[in-house]
Amino acid sequence: MTGGFEGSGLVKRYRRGAETVSALAGVDLQVDAGEFVALVGPSGSGKSTLLALLCGWETADEGILSYHGALADRRPDTLGWPELALVPQALGLVADLNLGDNVLLPARLRGTLATEEPRARDLLADFGLDHLVDRYPAQASLGEQQRVAVARALLLRPAVLLADEPTAHQDRGHADRLLDAVTDAARAGSAVLIATHDELAWARADRVLSMRDGHLTDGAPS
Ligand SMILES: Nc1ncnc2c1ncn2[C@@H]1O[C@H](COP(=O)(O)OP(=O)(O)OP(=O)(O)O)[C@@H](O)[C@H]1O
Ligand SMILES: [Mg+2]
Repeated sequence: MTGGFEGSGLVKRYRRGAETVSALAGVDLQVDAGEFVALVGPSGSGKSTLLALLCGWETADEGILSYHGALADRRPDTLGWPELALVPQALGLVADLNLGDNVLLPARLRGTLATEEPRARDLLADFGLDHLVDRYPAQASLGEQQRVAVARALLLRPAVLLADEPTAHQDRGHADRLLDAVTDAARAGSAVLIATHDELAWARADRVLSMRDGHLTDGAPS
């Protein structure tokens, strides 16, 4: 399944009492199927907000968001794991499932557990997690939990992969392993957008977009 996505004039404001935070101030972007795009920018600039709109967790106050190809005419909040997979900044693992079952969760929801088990095993091995499958998230390090969240997102080869600072808790070796997998996903046809402070991730991406105060521009920050 392939499908890129496009946003135009995206505005998102958060209101807290009398205060209004303009988290996105009119953002245009397009990510095509097969592309790996890095989203960079200082803390608080709006990266996670943009990902929240793209995955349907939040609704834009203004602007139009659309998906292409096999996902055309779908609203983001109707997309499931095979179509749009997310690695949230806070990871979002299920505390009551062991790490192996967390990775397999998208397959369980789709009813394809048996078919996807070999791929889950490969991803777990690739990310150095094969000895930890029986542990629960609370019994694993933050970096290990983050690699589980990335493996879960990659499991069904989603048309759209959104990841929020997926290497934030990794050493260089594990970060490179994750970036290899993300790059492979794009080469296999996924539209990939990752928010990242990792300069080596920017170097691996096909394109870099910079966010500053809710505005998005092409290229790495100067
Ligand atoms: N639910 C919310 N209510 C009010 N303000 C919010 C909310 N979520 C985010 N914000 C504000 O919106 C702005 C953008 O936040 P966002 O989380 O998108 O930044 P970010 O670029 O992802 O930062 P980081 O690199 O620290 O993850 C910030 O000023 C933040 O304080
Ligand atoms: Mg963020």
